[in-house]
Amino acid sequence: MLSTLSVLALAITASALPAPAPAGQVIGSKAFSAPAVHNSNYQRNGTAALLKAYAKYNLSPKEGQFSSELLAALGSSKVKRQDGSASAAPAGGTEYLVSTSVGGESLNLDFDTGSADLWVFSSSLSSASKKGHDIYTASKSPTYQALSGYTWSITYADGSGASGKVGTDTVTIGGTSVTGQAVELATKVSSTFVSDAADGLVGLAFSSINTVQPVQQQTFFDNAQPSLNSPLFAAYLPYNADGAYDFGFIDSSKYSGSINYATVNSGNGFWEFASNSYQVGGSTFSQSGNTGIADTGTTLVLMIDDAVSNYYASVSGASNSATYGGYIFPCSTSLPSLSVDIGGNYATIPGSLLNFQSIDGTNCFGGLQSVGGGTQNIYGDVFFNAYYGIFDASVPQFGFAALA
Ligand SMILES: *[C@@H]1O[C@H](CO)[C@@H](O)[C@H](O)[C@H]1NC(C)=O
Repeated sequence: MLSTLSVLALAITASALPAPAPAGQVIGSKAFSAPAVHNSNYQRNGTAALLKAYAKYNLSPKEGQFSSELLAALGSSKVKRQDGSASAAPAGGTEYLVSTSVGGESLNLDFDTGSADLWVFSSSLSSASKKGHDIYTASKSPTYQALSGYTWSITYADGSGASGKVGTDTVTIGGTSVTGQAVELATKVSSTFVSDAADGLVGLAFSSINTVQPVQQQTFFDNAQPSLNSPLFAAYLPYNADGAYDFGFIDSSKYSGSINYATVNSGNGFWEFASNSYQVGGSTFSQSGNTGIADTGTTLVLMIDDAVSNYYASVSGASNSATYGGYIFPCSTSLPSLSVDIGGNYATIPGSLLNFQSIDGTNCFGGLQSVGGGTQNIYGDVFFNAYYGIFDASVPQFGFAALA
């Protein structure tokens, strides 16, 4: 009798559960917005932001650009970020966090248009690594399915990185869910990530640079794309304030004037476009054959070395500081605007946004810095502080319009 009852109870429970949804199905709105909350603990540290970008893109500083201390930091897997102290809550690194549900578990993730992995802090991490983070526990999710034998790994040039195992689960962003999304569970993270406020990343570059083996996986955006009203998302990251990521639509209340579009070459997996010249104040400089990428996962604007020296030649008292790894200037100096060519149209970043941070009350660190020996410009959050950016997979193309 008892066993009949429990079988019955089981049958009722089972029939009450929805049938498993097919992979990549979108449940919810075909146009939705996810708040990108400004991290209230965020402390600006231009040097740390620069080191992070150098590690991510394997950039090498030019002779004399970095002090031996910074060179060591870049070469070490134990780089301590500004918030690396053991007791402090993770504060730095990521300025905008997007609340994301994975299998019903809530995490604060870094939306990164410069990578293509969706990875999360998981219960398999050591307790020291988990400290201060929300974590994903696969066994608590009714919709998790392991991808047996699958692995992922992100390794940066400085030895930092993250890696682990892979499964699929329902990922909900801004009230809309994608079923069967590849979720990469970190079982190892370096100190750089431990000290960062984010509980993982949502990569929004092209799926061609996803690191899952043996079978590469699609990004959240690529899975959602066929169901969206328009095959695009947009980044809204205003200075020191809450922003948003809009999926499937362009929010005309967030920008003024018209949108300019640049053709994207996705060959390297990035939102990459021609960037053949720039203007400092009123002067135009050519950098023919150059490209730039739009990367919400990088804090600063990084340009080829010539452009950066030409810019700071117009800033009185500016010098490259090996101690800070980049250009600093007296905080009292007002900076010229910088216009960057994005596929044939200029985007103008006002000088005020290029004053990234006061380092000692007297000197300030620039929001524009060099890619060292690199050859590709990286337009990060300092750019997005001035422009609403549209990542449109249809051509593909990158659109930009001045923030309202
Ligand atoms: C900023 O970051 C650098 C590099 O990680 C670090 O050496 C420095 O102490 C940090 N500055 C502050 C004020 O936290």
